Amino acid sequence: MNVTVIGCGYVGLTTGVALAYIGHQVIGVEKNPEKLELLRQKQSPIHEAGMDEMLDSIETRISFTNNTQEAAEDADLILIAVGTPPKENGDADTSYVETAAAEIASVLKDKHHYTIIVKSTVPIGANHKVANVIQRVLATRKIKAQVYFASNPEFLREGKALTDMLYPDRIVVGAEQEEAIESIRRLYRPILEQTFTPPKSLKRPQNYFLPPLVTTNTTSAEMTKYAANAFLALKISYINEIAGLCEKVGADVNEVARGIGLDPRIGARFLHSGIGWGGSCFPKDTLALLALGENYNYGMPIIQAAQTVNNRQRRLVIEKLQANLKVLRGKTIGILGLTFKADTDDVREAPSLDIIKMLIASGAIVKAHDPIAIDNAKELLAGEEIEFVADPYEMARDCDALVLLTEWNCFSHLDFEKLYQQVKTPFFLDGRNFLNPEQLRKAGFVYEGFGR
Ligand code: UGA
Repeated sequence: MNVTVIGCGYVGLTTGVALAYIGHQVIGVEKNPEKLELLRQKQSPIHEAGMDEMLDSIETRISFTNNTQEAAEDADLILIAVGTPPKENGDADTSYVETAAAEIASVLKDKHHYTIIVKSTVPIGANHKVANVIQRVLATRKIKAQVYFASNPEFLREGKALTDMLYPDRIVVGAEQEEAIESIRRLYRPILEQTFTPPKSLKRPQNYFLPPLVTTNTTSAEMTKYAANAFLALKISYINEIAGLCEKVGADVNEVARGIGLDPRIGARFLHSGIGWGGSCFPKDTLALLALGENYNYGMPIIQAAQTVNNRQRRLVIEKLQANLKVLRGKTIGILGLTFKADTDDVREAPSLDIIKMLIASGAIVKAHDPIAIDNAKELLAGEEIEFVADPYEMARDCDALVLLTEWNCFSHLDFEKLYQQVKTPFFLDGRNFLNPEQLRKAGFVYEGFGR
């Protein structure tokens, strides 16, 4: 099928690359000139496992342009994957989605058939608005194209997005027309039936079951996306709340998480305690769900509590440092990890941003290291006084405390004896309960985690 993807950010690019990999002919539309230039050279603007191998292997099946007409007029399917950033009241801003819809409608050809799919995370009703915008423009142009509409929310984790594309748990489609569902079924058939050869670096998981295609009405598909992310966010906040109590009573939250997670009704995943959730999805989507509830005068105390607990986790870093160092003013704090989680270069809404700002506000001197995201962090922390250091040992020199904020695998291979030689005070706060406390204590550090 001929597929056009509007917007080559995290979602658009990974979706486009995977669809090309399973055999479709894909054109990605990207308006940012620097990103477009990279993509045209088949270089990924984002850090995503398997991306380089897959881009190499689909050389002739994917191309990139900034010209919507060139990309969309002959397409069978057009996927909208542009951003929906939060507005001041928490509502998702759908203006980019609507602009993309209007632009698509202005180039569709007479008497052609198209399926237009919204991938962006959009508030309830936004899919109907997209359909409306497109039909209005087509009517003004007196064009009789046959357009089918579908909402197809994504469940991709950054860093594992290509794996999630190729081996999903489920594919959710919200549509009112049978033709739209059929067209999506054709699009994903190689994934639904797992008939493609897996890329070398992204093997099919063992015991993987064929994913169901879940068909719903459009509103349910929109709600499914928000409900999934909010549930995952509150699962993390739940274990973080339990972690706080574990610390008071002398339990270890890792042991508790294992003890409860083996119950399949609860499940072991998303029970890692620490500084809490960040990123471009959970913070934005929980806000949007609360804003939606407010529109209907419907309180959502559970989601509210998930946010409250999450904000508290960030403040706990400061409190734990105060409890150990007493005074933060003038103390040097070394940060290990800036991204909102490992295996991505994304720093958007990362807990590190808030934590660093709170440290600076307390008068601390902040040094920071991240294996791949220093440049991205510099952009989001512009104006703050921080010393970014490319070498972790160099960063640790003369620090009064080291704080791990991202669970980068390379941090577990650090030479902790060497790190110990560098610091002024050997206090190590593990914001992800990621490292082996015994190893750090053996090296001479006072180790503290969250809820253990
Ligand atoms: C999330 C969802 O997991 C995806 O299913 C969804 O498609 C995506 O949002 C989206 O809406 O586009 P992502 O934000 O990439 O994916 O990252 P996650 O792996 O879900 O992690 C989110 C945050 O929760 C991170 O800050 C992570 O460190 C934190 N987390 C995760 C924990 O603190 N504990 C855990 O046990 C798991």
